[in-house]
Amino acid sequence: MIQQNTTFPDDFLWGSATSAYQIEGAAYEDGKGESIWDKFSHTPGKILNGDTGDIACDHYHRYKEDIDLMAYIGLKSYRFSISWPRIFPDGKGKLNQKGLDFYSKLIDKLLENNIEPFISLYHWDLPQALDDKKGWLNKDTSNYFSDYTETLVKSLSNRVKYWSTFNETIFIILLGHINCIHAPARKENIKNINQIRHNLLLAHGLAVNQIKSFDKSLKTGIVHNANIYIPENTQSEDMEFIKKVFYNDNGILFDPIFKGKYPETFLKESGKNLPQFSDKEMKIISTPTDFLGLNVYSGTVIRKKNNNNDFEIVPYPKDYPVTYNGWTINPDSIYWGLKTINALYDIPEYYITENGASFNDTLSDDGKVHDEKRIDFYKKFLSSLNKAIKEEVNVKGYFAWSLMDNFEWAEGFKEKFGLIYINHKNNQKRILKDSAYWYKKVIKNNGF
Ligand code: GCO
Repeated sequence: MIQQNTTFPDDFLWGSATSAYQIEGAAYEDGKGESIWDKFSHTPGKILNGDTGDIACDHYHRYKEDIDLMAYIGLKSYRFSISWPRIFPDGKGKLNQKGLDFYSKLIDKLLENNIEPFISLYHWDLPQALDDKKGWLNKDTSNYFSDYTETLVKSLSNRVKYWSTFNETIFIILLGHINCIHAPARKENIKNINQIRHNLLLAHGLAVNQIKSFDKSLKTGIVHNANIYIPENTQSEDMEFIKKVFYNDNGILFDPIFKGKYPETFLKESGKNLPQFSDKEMKIISTPTDFLGLNVYSGTVIRKKNNNNDFEIVPYPKDYPVTYNGWTINPDSIYWGLKTINALYDIPEYYITENGASFNDTLSDDGKVHDEKRIDFYKKFLSSLNKAIKEEVNVKGYFAWSLMDNFEWAEGFKEKFGLIYINHKNNQKRILKDSAYWYKKVIKNNGF
């Protein structure tokens, strides 16, 4: 449902998002070390059409042009990730100054254009050298992540205010270590999964402490993509039912950060599969943060099965609208995701750090990309977001995923999520889609 006259709060942070491995290229240039995604994408059969991020959008060399385009669209902020192996090729030890210089120049160019940098410290590209020593299963990696953060904060925090630690911890675990469609694609047993999750959460807490102890005015947070549940009868407002279902599924990643403990059921039921952890570590993990970044794409519709909150999934009808990669287009997901989390946890601020869609974008004879489906998608999701804001959920910004068509992990370059069209196999020419021009107006008018 599209709300008319949808206006957003003053100083709302309108942005767009990318990640290092998906856009930078220069995978082995200027001293950058190998990441688990460099290795994985070069493993035959792992990525559609044998695509890799070796060149991606060549953003490492074209970042000035890309920032000019961000400025033309009128972005107020740009969410990007830093490639850990570009900073520490071995994950620790010797610093690669050229890598740090790249991000420093990128940030300076952003600030010249009044675009607020919004950093992700980790968007999946672990240094391969650390994965060779068991990666996130090894608690040393959490400490190396803390050292990496310290280096970046010392060098960049005079210009960067927003620091998010991890992108989608749930997918790092699920896709990297359970269904193994993402790097490092190493299947682990439940005990090791629990330890990997704990070490990731600990790394988050250690990084927050590095950031806050360096400058407590810096804004820190984590970016989650929770499994969102939507009631079949959205007028029912049975928030208690939705909260319970949401909590049973997502509490394991939210409670340690926002409540300083694991869910009771996890502690009771894990037995010998419990991770090695301490009260001290739980305190570190729950170091207060300033915001939650929420990546929202869709949600699951459910109905009560009986009076004790058991639920069943309500299947989407066959003709229900979907994106090119088959994701159901349900704008209620943004509203119910925010409302549920806001009812369960005490979180000061929210940013929608990713929202967007893949459509089968093609270049028209007029040299333009008429992606009306994406404009319709954004109108519907922004309307739903606006409803949550009007109901006092403190959302401070929104980042369209993505700025440009990029490397969509196991799907390679098949999926096009960008506001900017790129033919990666032709000349890497950037072409603003109709949605980019539409988004420019939304930012200018702070709504639509
Ligand atoms: C994610 C990642 C992005 C994806 C985007 C589209 O949420 O999976 O943060 O890197 O490219 O979400 O799948």
